[in-house]
Amino acid sequence: RSLRLWGGRFEGGPADALTRLSVSVQFDWRLAPYDLLASRAHARVLGRAGLLTDDELARMLGALDDLEDACKAGEFRPTVADEDVHTALERGLLERLGSLGGKLRAGRSRNDQVATDLRLYLRDHVRHIVSRLAELETALMSQAEQHVDTAAPGMTHLQHAQPVSFGHQLLAHVHAFARDVDRLRDWDRRAAVSPLGSGALAGSSLPLDPETVARELGFDSAAPNSMDAVADRDFAAEFLFDAAMIGVHLSRLGEEIVLWASQEFRWIEMDDAYSTGSSIMPQKKNPDVAELARGKSGRLIGNLMTLLTTLKGLPLTYNRDLQEDKEPVFDAVDTLLLVLPAMAGLVATMRVNTTRLEASAPDGFALATDLAELLVRKGVAFRDAHEAVGHLVVWCQVNDKEFEDLTDDELAKVSPHFTPDVRDVLSVPGALASRSAPGGTAPSRVREQLAALRDLVDGH
Ligand code: ARG
Repeated sequence: RSLRLWGGRFEGGPADALTRLSVSVQFDWRLAPYDLLASRAHARVLGRAGLLTDDELARMLGALDDLEDACKAGEFRPTVADEDVHTALERGLLERLGSLGGKLRAGRSRNDQVATDLRLYLRDHVRHIVSRLAELETALMSQAEQHVDTAAPGMTHLQHAQPVSFGHQLLAHVHAFARDVDRLRDWDRRAAVSPLGSGALAGSSLPLDPETVARELGFDSAAPNSMDAVADRDFAAEFLFDAAMIGVHLSRLGEEIVLWASQEFRWIEMDDAYSTGSSIMPQKKNPDVAELARGKSGRLIGNLMTLLTTLKGLPLTYNRDLQEDKEPVFDAVDTLLLVLPAMAGLVATMRVNTTRLEASAPDGFALATDLAELLVRKGVAFRDAHEAVGHLVVWCQVNDKEFEDLTDDELAKVSPHFTPDVRDVLSVPGALASRSAPGGTAPSRVREQLAALRDLVDGH
């Protein structure tokens, strides 16, 4: 007898080309622990339904435990003849139990099984991803804590705009990752629905109890529609969106780190453990971790597109196309679990060049807005203040001077608004401290923000 799960009505065996196309065990074997979990719950429900005697159930559960141990020890492995993880594990069960092993398939199809396995796998791995995100957030927060009072050039269009607390900038990245965690938590609520009991598509005529099975497997409920349950891959697509979004956030942080580490910026120095060298240029220290974070966002975005494209236009219910859901999902999980710890390490160990940041914070006339706002407080219309300061900037550029080099006369020459007291606002710490409304870069606010984020990340 064939070990295939579907040999009965076929006379000849499948063509090699079909087998090679069809086989998925080389990538879905990682679902084995979850398939075994679901099998135990299914065995118990068959027992409660009177479809397995107590003795049969005990032998079935014993064999499943034994098979799990054998899988863990690497003693049981899928062979090329096993079409998928479900086929391989049924073979393992038959090897242990003989014909009793064939009873477990009652009321169950690979269609509800694979959808259940993938949900279990993802819910489990999302927890790991959240932990790795929390480590990266913690690394960013520790650096931020050191640099609440470090002024840095704040940029728009990659041009000096206004000075900011470097801690404020680091915490901006933490907020992005905190939203990712929030999205994954929200995702989990929708993913917590069990397809088991839906069978191939129509449910089962056997007296199964999908709600109890759902709870045994840690789901919140059983699927209310068996057709939707086996056809739905929203949970996979939504996860891939969340993963792609994390990828984009990692990529943006990665790009900043690449810039910061450059000779032109020199804002940070990367630790040797998280930088790479060149095979020809002995002096090089390269930001490969940050670049790979940036580069791998491409595959995370691609994985989302792959699955959405696969799902588009599929008729209900299960179609074999759905087997293509797994590789993009696994790749996204693997990619995040590779990139997140490396980025956390890079951030945790980078040394911030405080002197350089502080010195360049006022560059590019970054205090121009402060000057204009001072005039506004003195009653000048912002439109006029903006223009007067604009003229002052041009005057300084032509005469190769900074704001603080200007004499009282020079100030007055550009505009009568510029009385000597305007110099009071030409201070970077003053500029930072004055932005003290909620969300602003004033160090007092950044400290509050950091405390709130610490609480939030503790709650992850
Ligand atoms: N390996 C398949 C998948 O990953 C599950 C098998 C369902 N096959 C079937 N012919 N109904 O989607």
